[in-house]
Amino acid sequence: MEKKAELIKGKAKSIYETDDPGFLIMEFRNDTSAFDGGKIEQLDRKGMVNNKFNNFIMQKLEAAGVPTQLDSLLSDTESVVKNLDMIPVECVIRNVATGSLCKRLPVEDGIDLVPPTFEFFLKDDALHDPMINDYHIRTFGWASDEEVAAMKVLTFKVNDVLKKLFADAGMILVDYKLEFGRYKGEVVLGDEFSPDGCRLWDAETRAKLDKDRFRQGLGGVVEAYEEVAHRLGVQLN
Ligand code: C5P
Repeated sequence: MEKKAELIKGKAKSIYETDDPGFLIMEFRNDTSAFDGGKIEQLDRKGMVNNKFNNFIMQKLEAAGVPTQLDSLLSDTESVVKNLDMIPVECVIRNVATGSLCKRLPVEDGIDLVPPTFEFFLKDDALHDPMINDYHIRTFGWASDEEVAAMKVLTFKVNDVLKKLFADAGMILVDYKLEFGRYKGEVVLGDEFSPDGCRLWDAETRAKLDKDRFRQGLGGVVEAYEEVAHRLGVQLN
């Protein structure tokens, strides 16, 4: 497969066209950003770790019946993915209260959320990804009611699979963000799943093992991602 022009340069990944219109190449860069791009750094090895981590997680999800964008691993930092028509909303599930939830609502940081909460945000950097609801999605035509329903079902299915996967490896899946797209009439999980887009705490110490280490300047960011990969049995080399 031939890598062609760069189609999208995101904050941490680039998407390239290929000679097959049905497939794209997703490149995981070392760029790490937070606060809507207000803090950006290059972290050695991060692109490689996230590419392999994402590959591992997407394979687990496919095996559990969640359709994903992933096709195959191409290189240390690149994967071949299906060319989805992306839906411009982010789906967030929270199993434990922290982050923006505790800024918006009178909720104590660290408490278990039973049942977990589900939130939609609009993907719009200029507006800082505002929170939206099903009615906004319907009124502004970002997705159909059937697609909204499918995104919710799949996001909760991902929670069932990954909460257990991380728990078995001594970690708490605190929260995460997913994006979906359309492929041949089906709603498919797109983008990535890596410690850049979720919160993972050590089950005993509650030490942060995700991008909050970068956001909060705690250091050891990639080392924490590698620790998570190691606990799950992700092959990094
Ligand atoms: O910031 P907030 O608490 O709303 O984030 C919830 C979850 O969604 C976190 O795991 C965060 O990493 C992820 N997220 C993301 N990309 C965004 C917003 C949130 O990956 N644009």
